[in-house]
Amino acid sequence: MDTHVETSEDSLDREWWTEAVVYQIYPRSFNDSDGDGVGDLSGIVENVAYLDELGVDAVWLSPVYESPGEDNGYDISDYRAIDDQYGELADWERLVECLHDRDIRLIMDLVINHTADEHAWFQRSRAGEEPYDDYYIWREGDPAEPPNNWESIFGGPAWSYDDQREAWYLHVFDESQPDLNWRNPDVRREIADVISWWREKGTDGFRIDAASHISKPEGLPDGDPDTDPTGIAHYSHGPTLDAYLEELTERTLGEAGVMTVAEMGHTTVEQAAEYVASESNGLEMVFQFDHVGIGDSPEDLFDPEASDEWDLTALKDIVTRQQTEIAWPAPFLGNHDLPRAVSLFGDDERYHRESATLLATFLLTLRGTPFVYQGDAIGMHNAEFQHLAEIDDVMTIGRVESLQEAGVIDSHEEVRQFVNERSRDHARTPMQWTDGKHAGFTDGSPWLKVNERYTEINVEAARADTHSVLAHYRELIDLRHEWAVLVDGDYELLLPEDEQLYAYRRTLSEETALIVLNWSAEPATFESPVPTDGADAVTGNYTDVPSTPDGTTFRPYEAAIYRL
Ligand code: GLC
Repeated sequence: MDTHVETSEDSLDREWWTEAVVYQIYPRSFNDSDGDGVGDLSGIVENVAYLDELGVDAVWLSPVYESPGEDNGYDISDYRAIDDQYGELADWERLVECLHDRDIRLIMDLVINHTADEHAWFQRSRAGEEPYDDYYIWREGDPAEPPNNWESIFGGPAWSYDDQREAWYLHVFDESQPDLNWRNPDVRREIADVISWWREKGTDGFRIDAASHISKPEGLPDGDPDTDPTGIAHYSHGPTLDAYLEELTERTLGEAGVMTVAEMGHTTVEQAAEYVASESNGLEMVFQFDHVGIGDSPEDLFDPEASDEWDLTALKDIVTRQQTEIAWPAPFLGNHDLPRAVSLFGDDERYHRESATLLATFLLTLRGTPFVYQGDAIGMHNAEFQHLAEIDDVMTIGRVESLQEAGVIDSHEEVRQFVNERSRDHARTPMQWTDGKHAGFTDGSPWLKVNERYTEINVEAARADTHSVLAHYRELIDLRHEWAVLVDGDYELLLPEDEQLYAYRRTLSEETALIVLNWSAEPATFESPVPTDGADAVTGNYTDVPSTPDGTTFRPYEAAIYRL
């Protein structure tokens, strides 16, 4: 294949992450080395070769810090310790070394909006011990009357009453995750110290969890009961968020070579664009969620009646805005909080391979730094849950309880349907390595059930098949590394109204790539609105790539890349 190879001149002054493909690991579900049914750090070390073979440049590791595990590590009880389930600090150091040996960087998850209630700071705070008494957001008052009507993102009130301190504390997530009081300079200093500590140990970047929620308004205004959850507009994008991020940047995050990406739920494309454009807040990238929420309006995210239907023109509209308005986007199609991408955006049965490879083509030909979620590179899809008892996720359980209390869902069938559409556990079923027992994830008994189709969809089978989803990911990651237009080229949407074809051009000086995706289960003919004379077929997800795009009828979920 004849593609432009980036010269060293092109890459002068580049930050490493602009050319990187990042792979997210959810450690609990990746690989279990010691048979306790839970993935661990040594299990990741055993599979660093797999990451290298895939060609990724960095790993974002979901939390491995000490934690009571109510929210699988997103509830930290000691920021400087590794949870026993995952191993110990020496295992983490070994992982960094193995990754760095293969030129793979490590991005840690920074959960700094809240801690676990088992964190020593909270224990001291609830005992009223100085200076910790003001580390969290406390309000005195009637134990029967929460300070305001805010609701938690995980269901139920955002306030819990603590009998020991005889006061209410705020938790925008689970009651076991009290929000830190960022107005307190001591809290901000502690967090900056934690970041420096991990940085000095060799961490290359950070994903800032729930970044949009860390600044709360001065008073505690009532939230509009029509938003879901009530109050979120007040506890997102608070007035001092920029100042806090700026301070962290000055203290630690701004250090050369450190990558930061902020998770920002409840954030518009305009807001994401502003955060990324800001010179002072230190954020290189923002995860903006409009595209993955496409089946839902924000109000009906947890409405079991809401349809999962979405339309391609709407998706094009959202992604085109992200691609063209955000200075440096962070494209992703899945993560540990979302149902599987191939189930949402593709056809995980009849066109499983085709739609999973179409999604790979899409993700890896967008502008920005793409994030690949664990399991997506072999086309892992949603599980089929039968009972709530099979669910581990605190959010799914909290939401089901709230909906049941409100009388919105009732029967076993309604619960089953809600869980199967929305549960975060779809993304958390164990990684499928082989067709052996428990998909080769563990010798013990897995903490969450393994997806039924593991005998067919697994790494071992994918490695042996030159047309597998995995083979396609590898090829596309290589292509992205070789062909600068895929990283830096401008993005231009073609045929915005077409309901089957998603086509776009990427252009960088003299170089143009054309990507044609038939995002449907029916054939679709591409009538090119732009000249395609002399187009070279670069690659596609069917064995024979149509040699010319114009006038070609693309097959179901066919994806092809041309050089113009
Ligand atoms: C983020 C994480 C999610 C977690 C929540 C609370 O949204 O991605 O998994 O439950 O924050 O920390």
